[in-house]
Formats: sequence, C-alpha cells, structure tokens
Amino acid sequence: MTPNQLRATYIKFFVDRGHVEIPSASLVPENDPTTLFTSSGMQPLVPYLLGQSHPSGKKLVDSQKSFRSQDIEEVGDNRHTTFFEMLGNWSLGEYFKKEQLAWFFEFLTKEIRLDPNRLFVTVFAGNPAVPRDIDSVGIWKSLFSSANIQAKDVEDAENKGMQGGRIFYYGEKKNWWSRSGVPSAMPAGEPGGPDSEIFYDFGAELQLHETSQFAHQDCHVNCDCGRFMEIGNSVFMQYQKQADGSFKELPQKNVDFGGGFERILAAMDNTLDVFTTDLFRPILTTIEEISHISYDGKHKRNFRIIADHVRASVMLAADGVVPSNKEQGYVLRRLIRRAVRFGKLLGIQIPFILEVAQSVIDQYKEIYSDVGENSAAILSTLQEEEQKFGKTITKGLKEIEKVPTLNGEIAFTLYETYGFPFELTEEIARERGQQVEYGTFRKAFEKHQELSRTTSKGMFKGGLADHSEIVTKYHTATHLLHAALREVLGKHVTQQGSNLTAERLRFDFSHPQPLTEDQKKKVESIINEKIADALPVTPQFMKKDEALAQGALAFFQEKYGDTVSVYTIGHDPEKDWYSKELCGGPHVKNTQDIGKMKITKEESIGSGKRRIYLQLA
Ligand code: SER
Repeated sequence: MTPNQLRATYIKFFVDRGHVEIPSASLVPENDPTTLFTSSGMQPLVPYLLGQSHPSGKKLVDSQKSFRSQDIEEVGDNRHTTFFEMLGNWSLGEYFKKEQLAWFFEFLTKEIRLDPNRLFVTVFAGNPAVPRDIDSVGIWKSLFSSANIQAKDVEDAENKGMQGGRIFYYGEKKNWWSRSGVPSAMPAGEPGGPDSEIFYDFGAELQLHETSQFAHQDCHVNCDCGRFMEIGNSVFMQYQKQADGSFKELPQKNVDFGGGFERILAAMDNTLDVFTTDLFRPILTTIEEISHISYDGKHKRNFRIIADHVRASVMLAADGVVPSNKEQGYVLRRLIRRAVRFGKLLGIQIPFILEVAQSVIDQYKEIYSDVGENSAAILSTLQEEEQKFGKTITKGLKEIEKVPTLNGEIAFTLYETYGFPFELTEEIARERGQQVEYGTFRKAFEKHQELSRTTSKGMFKGGLADHSEIVTKYHTATHLLHAALREVLGKHVTQQGSNLTAERLRFDFSHPQPLTEDQKKKVESIINEKIADALPVTPQFMKKDEALAQGALAFFQEKYGDTVSVYTIGHDPEKDWYSKELCGGPHVKNTQDIGKMKITKEESIGSGKRRIYLQLA
C-alpha cells in the first residue's frame, strides 16, 4: 500500500461509517495567539469540541498537517519528525469508547492487516478527579478476544515490566491528553480527557541480539527504547478545566482520535525507521544522488535531519510562511539553515535545497493543493534563504578571522548567529593551532535550548482566556476592517492573513500603495460607526455556493468544505448587512461589544501587500 493509498483508505473507512471528510487546516493557526503552529488534529476543532456546532456535522474525519517545533532537536532518530500528518476521526458528542476502539482495531487488523499479536494498548489509571477507565479495558478485552488473544491487564509496567500483559494502566503523564499536558498544567477553559493509546511491537527479538541497541533493556510499551511505537491515540475528550482548578463534564462527550500517519506506514512495513518508508524514500534518494553517499551507512542522522527539515520547510512555505527573524518565520529560517548545515556534513558544497524540495513537492502536490499550486513560490523562498545563508557563512568566516582565540562559547555564538556547525569552528581553530572545547559549547547550547523551551511554554500559557474575550473582539473588528478597507480603497482589497493577540489585531491585505492619512481616518471612522450602530453578528450554516452568491468573502476558499459557516454583521443577514464572511468564529454577538478601535500602524510587507495594526482605543 502506498502512502497515498493508506491516507485514502483511512478516510474512506470512516466515511463508510458515517463521517464527513474535512480539509486539513493551515499549519499556521488562524486567530489563535496561543501557539505558532497547528500541532495536532484537534487544535482547529477546539470550538466544536467545546460545543459549537460544526458545519459538516458531528462525525468528522481528516488528515491534518501538523508541526511540532519543540521536536527539532529530537529529529535524527528512527521516528521523530517536526512535520507530520495526523489521521483524525472525531465524534462531537455522537459515538464514544465502544465504537471508537472497535473501529480503530478493525481498521488496523482487517483493513491494513497489522498482526493483532503485535498490538498493545494503554488506558488511564485514574486520579482523584477522574476515575480509572475500566470501560476501555472491558472493550479491549473483548476486541482482542475476537482475534483469539487473551488480553491481560496489568499495573505498574513502568516498574514491574510487561508481566505478560497486553493492556497497561498508566497515570496522567502518559494517558491524559490536553494541549498543555497533565491536568494541573491546563489553563481554565481548556478541554481534555483520559486517553487510550495503541502501540505496535517491532519484536521482542530486538532485545535478544547482543549488538542491538535494545539488548537486555527492561522495557515496557511506554518506555523510550523504541521497540514499541505509538501509532494511535483515542482521547475521550469529556472534561473542561474550571477557573477553580476543578474539572467539569463538557456538555457533550467527544472522541478525538489522532493516528501518526508516518508511524502507521512504518508499522505496515514492519520497519523501525519511518525514513525508509515510501514517504521518505524518494527524498532520501535525491539526497543520495547529490551527496554520492548511501543512506544505509554511518550518516543516517544527517540524512534524516535534511529530509525532515526540507519536507517541513516546503509545507510551511506552502502555507505562506516566509523566513524571517520572528515567530513562524524564524522557525522556517532555522529549518532551512539547519538542513544546509547538515548537508555540509555530508560533504555537499553546492546549493542543493531546491532539488530536495522538488522531490518533497512531487510527493505531496496531489494531496495538498497548496503545495502544487504554490510550488514555484515555495522553491524560490527556499532557494533565496539558502543563498542568504551562504552569504552569512562567508561573513561569519570573516568574523572568525578577527577573533584571536576561539573557545566553546565563541563556537556557540558562531553556531547561533551564523549557523556554523561546531565541527566547522573546530576545524578552523585546528588550522590555527587552537582548540575549542566541546563541553563549553554544549553547556551554552543546552542553556539556550532550555530557554527556548520555556519561551514556547510561556507562549502557550496565554491560554483560552484570550480566545474567549479580547481576541474575540479583535476577530470581529477584523471583519469590519476588511469590509471598510474594501469600501474606502476598492474591491481589489482581499485578506492575505491575520494575527490576533490580546494586545492588538494585525491584518494583511492586497493593495499597491501606502494608505493616505485621509484614507486611514475614513477606515477608522467607518469601523467605529459600525461599532456604535450596535449591529448584530449572525452565524449561519449554508452551502458554499449560496454563501458566495450572497457576496460572502472567502479567505482561502479551497480550505472550506461544501457546507460552510458564515458570519454576517448587519441588522438583517439577508437584506441589510455590512460584512459577510466565511469564517469559523468565534465572534462577539453585537458590534457594540467591541469598544472603540484605532489604527496604530500601516506598512508594506512587499509585493503589493500591506499590513495594518489596530487596537482598542
Ligand atoms: N489530540 C490527540 C493527539 O494529538 C489525539 O488526536 O495525540
């Protein structure tokens, strides 16, 4: 089965069971200031898990593009990637544990024919607030028994090992899922719940070989040795954290299932290495051709990092990210530059990112329309960054000439600022008869890593409070702004992107020249008039064609399914309205809830695009 067939088989399996396929959301979340990237399938669906109705119904299936920047340093082993696809099926208060576990078991064992003897599962052991998940244990026992396997449930595998068990109880750290982790780390308003994970066993024989990395390890399904790989996670999303720290049942019991597409492929091939699946093979072959080195040698780590980083860069660029020194752009810059550096370790001296990127595009263009349609722009974005990095390295070499004595700390500065690999600085230093100490470099590196982890955690702590209050106001103001810009500047103005934080709204739009003072005043006063008019904001579901025929604006049209959610601002959503847009919300109920707005800045972001900032006055 090819990767594309696996994706299609999963979607069809759930469509046949009453689910509606929804398109993948962008890797850059819309109007969510709490996180830089879409890092799981549930993230774009949070409002619907909390109770808002979804235009496509209560049973959904998708393959969601996901990106986890915190895993950047882990890439290089057999299974970590920064970009991945998460296969997802969703019950928004329709079905629950019985159907979910049975369907996924059927999918794995009947549809893609994994050997049930190689499957092991975990369930939530319970905590003072939420009981142990004995329902799932019962369901698993009968599912395994249908495959002639007597599944024993065992406690404390972390300390006591497998004990011949097939179902394992784990606590909050392993079997509770929310975007922010364990219950105590969740901000008020955040949904979460106990989960049940499925692991694929690559074989006890791995531990028998003296030379194997797994030899004599006392492992259990959830340890990190690599013999077991998690391939799917059914989250029973039924709780919401309250401001006083307690947990309340959500109005509906949801299922949030996420399956690692790349990992299921690896399990199907019975290979421990996700990079040798058909998904990565063509990418590795391209790198082999450029470097004249084989993947199966001692350079696996370098190959994996290049393949992962170029793949992720293509997908981020396809969703409009441009390399820069801030936010998403910084991450993209880092990925491209790391790929170039690891290319150097393979001895590649010529520009090579373009060729590798082309093989990634070939792999994904049929599946994600953004990749195919934007391929020229993606390639030139990556190529430009590779060239810029080349210039930076030349500059870095000049800087090195000026440093009288190189040491570990300077090596780290060179690494951070110019992207110099430690080995390169070491080599220069050697030429001068100097020595750089790896220990000091490593220390500075780890300090920096810790700092960036804390920063990304801090980023998340913004939490849903922002979502529900001020960001919602700014979101509705964005719709008024969009309509006002089109009224004042003309109908050529279309939204190119937006970003909301608790401090301000930022909006990108197409327009060839700076706004005059007079135009800015007009836009601002129209927005404030509409706010003062106390216009109702009305959500409706309708067919996409009908919405477009009514004049609704659609930002990223191809992202919407057949039935769409539309927000109209005006006294009458049919006859007397000012703004109508395809949008998932959330919004204030009435424009008067926004408060007075003012424009604080307007600037060019290149090639016929402008960026404008507004905040509450
Ligand atoms: N939200 C869960 C995860 O990301 C399952 O989709 O693993």
